[in-house]
Amino acid sequence: MLVERNIANSKIATGRYHRPRMVRGSDFPMRGISQPPAGEVQAYRQLHISAHPLVAHKLSLLRRAETTAREFSELVSELSRLLGYEAMTDLSLRPLDISTPLEDMAGAELAGEIGLVPILRAGLGMVDGFRQLVPRAQVWHIGLYRDERTLQPVEYYNRLPGRATVQVCFVLDPMLATGGSAVDAVRILKGWGVGRIKYVGLIAAPYGIRQLAEAFPEVDMHIAALDRELDERGYILPGLGDAGDRQFGTTDSA
Ligand code: PRP
Ligand code: URA
Repeated sequence: MLVERNIANSKIATGRYHRPRMVRGSDFPMRGISQPPAGEVQAYRQLHISAHPLVAHKLSLLRRAETTAREFSELVSELSRLLGYEAMTDLSLRPLDISTPLEDMAGAELAGEIGLVPILRAGLGMVDGFRQLVPRAQVWHIGLYRDERTLQPVEYYNRLPGRATVQVCFVLDPMLATGGSAVDAVRILKGWGVGRIKYVGLIAAPYGIRQLAEAFPEVDMHIAALDRELDERGYILPGLGDAGDRQFGTTDSA
């Protein structure tokens, strides 16, 4: 059934407004929706799939159904650090004169600030791994959840300062399913004035990769794995279930 979810007039916690959307409301919102095969999106130049053996090893541990919430959180953090390292390979540097105990030399430092934008809730677990790499990074939060019947992202929190003064913002979210949450997050950051944005996630579906790539071709995507497809409810297969629930030990949505 096609229903109109018009929340243009519903003021949410952030004080910002959503535009109205025509969306499908169903227990199986992905039923009948065609999805690209992984091979079709794999060639996108902005898509970077980690080939590191440690990433593959830790991701398999993360996916396993018997992995506890505590182990899950630790693995999300470790994987984020590894992916963050790969995603930061082209950060800009500026010269910095330094002195070793033996002599002066021309060193380097990161040019400009780095912004980390975890998408609540599940993205929170990725912040720690990134901050181990760039302790001075600023962290801003965007709260989005997927409406389970429409798969449309609903914004419920947005805490961005007045000005965007970073060389790059990393959008952090372990799962890219339909891509709706990531597309909305990037749109919010672009509207705020961020010039350069990279998405970093753990597992992506081809459908979500295509959505994000078509909406924002300039946004690099760094992921640990490209999975096969979305099931009829919009969950990634083989995936790992609900990343937020598994991380925080909640059970209401998976
Ligand atoms: C999950 C995940 C992403 C979103 C991905 O969040 O962390 O934000 O789903 O799905 P999409 O690509 O189809 O938008 P969820 O809505 O479950 O909220 P949570 O993090 O609070 O559990
Ligand atoms: N969000 C999740 O946490 N898992 C999925 O498989 C899809 C969206």
